[in-house]
Amino acid sequence: MSILKVARIGHPVVRTVARDVPRSAITSPDVQRLIDDMIETMHEYDGVGVAAPQVHVSLRLAVIEVPQSDERSRDGVPLTVLVNPVVTPLEDETVGGWEGCLSAPDLRGTVPRYRRVRLFALDRRGTPYTVEAEDFCARVIQHECDHLNGSVYLDRMRDMRSLSFLGEFERFVVDDLAEGDEDASA
Ligand code: NI
Repeated sequence: MSILKVARIGHPVVRTVARDVPRSAITSPDVQRLIDDMIETMHEYDGVGVAAPQVHVSLRLAVIEVPQSDERSRDGVPLTVLVNPVVTPLEDETVGGWEGCLSAPDLRGTVPRYRRVRLFALDRRGTPYTVEAEDFCARVIQHECDHLNGSVYLDRMRDMRSLSFLGEFERFVVDDLAEGDEDASA
């Protein structure tokens, strides 16, 4: 497995709408290796998710994993591979929470997201699955799926005044974080 170079905002691939992974290609060695490399890249950079466009591959593919020890999530999120995902909100309610992105390093900002979503996707064997997610898990899913449409969390911010550098975020925000607020880099 290899650690892949992460594309940052400004690189056109981050802003390109990715294409579906052909179903017959999901189990190919190339795509399987890409999935393994994305997982290793996510771990290397302590992300909770990585989307293929972030590693210069314009395919509708993402990986997510939130360790159980992560205080932003009650139970963590097991390693999940999302191929050609479709996300549907399950309620109109949105909640604000802190996010970061490996493609916009060392920044944090508050982003409104649907609190509950349904995810339909294929796993790495090409088997369809559906999960319902809420709170932090739903946030990470929405963040990664945005990447597949050429969007980043900065586009979703309603008030840019929360945008903070990581050092200042840790100095001035983390201690004040109320329960329910979250910080994510994905
Ligand atoms: Ni991101």
